[in-house]
Amino acid sequence: MHAAIVMDGNGRWAKQRGLPRSLGHRAGVEALKRTVSAAPALNIRWLTVFGFSTENWSRPAAEVGQLMALPQRYFQSDIARLEREGVRVRVIGSREGLSRDLVRMIDDAQARTAKNDTFFLNIAFNYGGQADIVAAARRFAEEVAQGRADPMDLDQQAFASRLATCDSPPPDVIIRPSGEQRLSNFLLWEAAYAELVFQDVLWPDYGAEHLKAALAAFAARERRYGAVVADDVLAAG
Ligand code: IPE
Ligand code: MG
Repeated sequence: MHAAIVMDGNGRWAKQRGLPRSLGHRAGVEALKRTVSAAPALNIRWLTVFGFSTENWSRPAAEVGQLMALPQRYFQSDIARLEREGVRVRVIGSREGLSRDLVRMIDDAQARTAKNDTFFLNIAFNYGGQADIVAAARRFAEEVAQGRADPMDLDQQAFASRLATCDSPPPDVIIRPSGEQRLSNFLLWEAAYAELVFQDVLWPDYGAEHLKAALAAFAARERRYGAVVADDVLAAG
């Protein structure tokens, strides 16, 4: 089971408490820790979370700076445990615009956990679904230009293998807390057959119970992948 989550609502959570947005983001990191801990027992093996979108650069510089500090905050406190518990960490998204220290920390987290295979945590950071699709198209075009690929060989699977998420199966469920009902450029290609679950809780309040509720909503859905269910085939005669 692959679950993906748009971590949203940090700012509103802080505002409700009369706190600066930065404290909402810090509380969001704690929610991520709770969620990662709860996931394996709920049969989730792949978890992809949206931490920073390519559109988030348009926020005030001070807030961008605070968001940029979050991966460091998370890895500093948790990377040893993730490594020990068999979690493979991958940060998907562009490295462009990230500080050298941040890139080093990301590389280190990925290298330290590269051989793990119990649980797969993808952190989308400086990620945009459209940008990722464009990057995959460009990569393929380059291969064609160099004579290493043939346009006739491009099918959905070959294209997907050039996306940042190529190592994970497509998400079964995409969860968005905070009441917003949008994908916001998250996993656009990969979302083709994902069930969408929207929850009213703000991300900093998120935890095991909310994840469990989201999976219960998912389990109640009937996934048909464009087909009809067997009973209706019979009914249609
Ligand atoms: C999610 O919380 C964090 C990021 C998008 C990086 P927000 O900062 O979007 O919180 P709201 O939507 O303003 O409440
Ligand atoms: Mg938001």
